[in-house]
Amino acid sequence: MSYKVLLADDDKNILAALKLQLKVEGFSSVPVTSPNEVLSALKEQDFDLILMDLNYHHDTTSGDEGLNLISEIRKNDQFIPIVAMTGWGTIDIAVDAMRRGANDFIEKPCDNNRLLNILKNLLALSESQKRSQRLASENELLRSSSQPQHWTCQSDAMKQVMTVVNNVAATDINILITGENGTGKSQLANIIHQLSLRKASSFITVNMGAINDAIFESELFGHVKGSFTDAKANRIGRFELADNGSLFMDEVANIPLGQQAKLLRVLESGEFEKLGSSKSQKASVRIISATNADLEDMVSDKNFRQDLLFRLNSIEINIPPLRDRQADIPVLANNFLKKYNHKYQRNIDKISVSAMDKLLAYQWPGNIRELDHLIERAILMATSTELQADDLLIKASATQDKNISPNNENDEDWAQLSMEQAEGKLIALVMKRFHGNAKDAAKSLGYSKSSFYRRLEKFGL
Ligand SMILES: Nc1ncnc2c1ncn2[C@@H]1O[C@H](COP(=O)(O)OP(=O)(O)OP(=O)(O)O)[C@@H](O)[C@H]1O
Ligand SMILES: [Mg+2]
Repeated sequence: MSYKVLLADDDKNILAALKLQLKVEGFSSVPVTSPNEVLSALKEQDFDLILMDLNYHHDTTSGDEGLNLISEIRKNDQFIPIVAMTGWGTIDIAVDAMRRGANDFIEKPCDNNRLLNILKNLLALSESQKRSQRLASENELLRSSSQPQHWTCQSDAMKQVMTVVNNVAATDINILITGENGTGKSQLANIIHQLSLRKASSFITVNMGAINDAIFESELFGHVKGSFTDAKANRIGRFELADNGSLFMDEVANIPLGQQAKLLRVLESGEFEKLGSSKSQKASVRIISATNADLEDMVSDKNFRQDLLFRLNSIEINIPPLRDRQADIPVLANNFLKKYNHKYQRNIDKISVSAMDKLLAYQWPGNIRELDHLIERAILMATSTELQADDLLIKASATQDKNISPNNENDEDWAQLSMEQAEGKLIALVMKRFHGNAKDAAKSLGYSKSSFYRRLEKFGL
């Protein structure tokens, strides 16, 4: 890797000599001749080190310009190595430079070997600082993400999903995954990354449901030390961690409205700034997002930006609920049986026919996650080597109530419905109460007119 050094001196001959010397050693460098140019170069480009004179006018020797420049640089960047070049016999100034944040100094005319030694040591040190920062951030994330397990797609519905996935995974297209709770959105996001050309780089997850307004920017884009009270050290954001890889934005409907414009800008340009820094950074990130909300609805209710949605859902992949892909149930159930049989050291190797019938008849409001938990509990309950219908703790009524019926207001039944079913049932009930007056029904439920009509259509009411 070639390091990039910012060279600052008002003497063009010195600049030319230094540039040549660094080039021989394999460094690239950018020469500038004034403190202002130093500051603007730092705003526009990334450098690995600054080598700077302390005086910028022929007749000055106080070093003030250079010393102020060091303070100025340190306001925005606590880490970049700075080496000050001092005239002979000005050790006091050199000490002052170090106090203001320079990492080392060298007397002019520069001794070649000493200069190279200083540069190499400082660069190695800053490399290792950057590495440990990155590791700390990555470790923190790894602890929160789990390894993918089996991926079952026996049903036609899931095979269709996987056809789309196989077609788009290797492109850089942004993908929005929709589906009810527990249908496998998070796991699919991971699979898409594994099938992509970015698989050698990181798969970074950020759960928008857990990120409020206050920490949004710091989490996504990072911050520099001191940018707010608790910012005790520099922090790398998830966007930067996902560079060359994929960023999975889970529960994307929860992005605070105020932050959506910021995110949109970053997605459009690939550029972002750390909180507390004015320097733009670039990252190449593929965005996969997931939600169980109806983003179109949120757009018409002005809770989600249309332009952001367009950015996220270049391709939308809907994972159907488990009740609509029954062919997956036996395979999944048997996989979970194996898993928990092993985990709890039991010897239950089969699911009885009647137990399987019960699984197939159930509506699965919690989808695959619910099936997983149900089998786990059943394994712990079972008394024979075959899982029996009675081992499966499903409410009988829930398996029969396949249709949404506005006449049935039993609490237990409501509790077995998916959110979507419950919504449909509620809307049907309220429409009945208002004798089919959609405007009043919408108002009483707090829906906007447009989103209410869309729902009526959706539920065939
Ligand atoms: N096709 C599948 N084959 C096997 N296991 C699956 C499949 N889909 C999901 N699972 C398992 O089901 C559980 C729930 O999946 P996941 O967390 O991906 O769902 P989700 O849609 O992201 O849920 P939520 O909406 O709560 O975020 C996980 O344990 C996952 O491993
Ligand atoms: Mg999830």
